[in-house]
Amino acid sequence: MADRYNADVVIIGSGIAALVVAERLSRKKNVIIITKSKKEDNNSNRAQGGVAAAISKSDHWLNHFEDTMIAGNYHNDEDAVQLLVEKGAHYLNKMIEDGMEFDKDANGNLLLGQEGAHGRRRILHAGGDATGQALVRFMLNRLQNQANVKLIEDVLAVDFLIQNNCCYGVKVKTKAGAVQPLYAADTILAAGGCGGLFEFTSNDPTVTGDGIAMAYRAGANLVDLEFVQFHPTLLYVNGGVKGLVSEAVRGEGAVLITQDGRRLMQGIHPQEDLAPRDIVAREIHRAVLNGEQIFLDISMIKNFAKRFPTITEMCRQSGIDLNAGKIPVVPGAHFQMGGVQVNLKGQTSIDHLYAIGEVACTGVHGANRLASNSLLEGIVFANELADYLLQQKHETEIPILEPVDRKLDILSLPTKEEIQAVMMKYVGIIRNGKGLQHAKSWFEQYLLPDIGAFLPEHLTNEQIEIYNMVQAGWLITTSALEREESRGGHFRIDFPEEKAEWTKKKIIRNCLVTAY
Ligand code: SIN
Repeated sequence: MADRYNADVVIIGSGIAALVVAERLSRKKNVIIITKSKKEDNNSNRAQGGVAAAISKSDHWLNHFEDTMIAGNYHNDEDAVQLLVEKGAHYLNKMIEDGMEFDKDANGNLLLGQEGAHGRRRILHAGGDATGQALVRFMLNRLQNQANVKLIEDVLAVDFLIQNNCCYGVKVKTKAGAVQPLYAADTILAAGGCGGLFEFTSNDPTVTGDGIAMAYRAGANLVDLEFVQFHPTLLYVNGGVKGLVSEAVRGEGAVLITQDGRRLMQGIHPQEDLAPRDIVAREIHRAVLNGEQIFLDISMIKNFAKRFPTITEMCRQSGIDLNAGKIPVVPGAHFQMGGVQVNLKGQTSIDHLYAIGEVACTGVHGANRLASNSLLEGIVFANELADYLLQQKHETEIPILEPVDRKLDILSLPTKEEIQAVMMKYVGIIRNGKGLQHAKSWFEQYLLPDIGAFLPEHLTNEQIEIYNMVQAGWLITTSALEREESRGGHFRIDFPEEKAEWTKKKIIRNCLVTAY
């Protein structure tokens, strides 16, 4: 490691992709992981349903490939999908060999769950509905024994250190407000998605689009940002959402009903309650707009509390009596299909800057992610990036990077709640050109045209987060405005049809060519 580097590799984020790549790299390199909050505060840790993989003898990766493409409305990158589903089973088997315990039946066979748009049971799960937590714990335990990995909590990544389209690390800010550079030969962005931009979300509150905004300021290509997945079933109590009710619940037989007991999904799609998420979420959204209340009827699921302990506890804490057999639900933002554009090794358009996990876009999810493909994506592409970086030698000297603090005054910023309300109303489940135009202008009153690659250092951590939300919200909005069709997670009432000419068309954002 060259003298001025703080580490060979710095990783931003502590979800499954970050932990997997850190563990692999630590055998040869010094790694620093930073997270703006606590190490468990991420979406991986909250994932309930599980990890999809064609692991059973009766399954084949080609089936998983087909289901992923159909759910993604064929906007997917086929090479990325093949890599995901073909290598997915291999990497999961390796994790099992290393000691990861997924749920098994009394004979020691893996129990495979069912979720929406999967042609068969192929979801590995752990702790019933606590799969993400089990995986994160497993990886954190493995990292504890790695002297080469340092995990630092409560440090906010502010901006990448960039010169001549090359990344030399990241500028960070501590909770106490101290700003410092962290120099590294390679920088990996694994900061998650943007669910926190929306009023209703399944995401951890810390997930506020920071990765997208930082990458944009650095000049990286961003792609497919208009595709945001809304999960159909978040627990809804007293006008607010309390958390996710896994699709695996419908996989075990639960059905969506209105307050009068009418089956919501009958006659809407051949797969009914297990139709792709965008279709189910829109149907619930329409019903709610018509003044109906929607419930999951779980009365037919035996031993619900044993199979779904996390959901049972969440309902208990929210005062929902599961003996009545009904869980009140609404849809909410869950996953961003787009993100920082990367190739299959995780390389962004900036040298030595990589992205993996939800913040990255390989194109694997197309316009709509197939259930339980996200933990899988994190694991597979983290391993692929590790393979690549372990073969690289990088001894380049760090240039003298001029400190940039231009004391730009951000005169006013909205509150997080205002941003979340605008995104939910105008950039949410059902969009239209007029609403998107309104949201665009609303964001533009807060954006500084000359912000460049770096935010002013004197901003507080909260102001930085809010500015990131404004920038990410604007990027999603303008992308949604440009795509004049409906596909997967992007639905426009003024362009309700899918258009063949848009199937593979990509909307790319890059601050060097786009305003703001
Ligand atoms: C769920 O359990 O429904 C969420 C799983 C996922 O988003 O893949």
